[in-house]
Amino acid sequence: MVMDKIERRVIMASLVLMGLFVFSLLYAKNKYKSNVPECLPYDKAYTEPKINKIDEKTYEVFSVASMWQFQPSEIYIPVGSEVDFYLTSKDVVHGFNISDKNINMMAVFGAINKTTVTFDKPGVYDIVCHEYCGVGHQNMRAQVIVNYPDAK
Ligand code: CUA
Repeated sequence: MVMDKIERRVIMASLVLMGLFVFSLLYAKNKYKSNVPECLPYDKAYTEPKINKIDEKTYEVFSVASMWQFQPSEIYIPVGSEVDFYLTSKDVVHGFNISDKNINMMAVFGAINKTTVTFDKPGVYDIVCHEYCGVGHQNMRAQVIVNYPDAK
């Protein structure tokens, strides 16, 4: 079977492109320390919003999304804290994006997603829902307050 010259070029070009995509994914993963969220087995314990202080710089946040809020809505932590976010939803699918952080998760009913974020700089980090979830979607937000105005 003879392959058309143009067809062969198209196949070669798509292989090169796929290689580039895989390379850029791995490059971004290492350079920006991208963290692929874990999906944990469902456990009702994660459906109660709470902040657990493990030690001075280590926290666990059980974040529960619902129409149209995140609970807890204010998370006070000191600079340099490492936070494990466990995320679930009480109703529809919501998004979970933290400003200035490379975090993009889905809050899904019946599922627990987990990611770890380190907050090295003081400031207020907005958590926003970036998945359209109904009429109150645009008001759905929470905040991580890192030593500002003062840590609680
Ligand atoms: Cu929740 Cu949009």
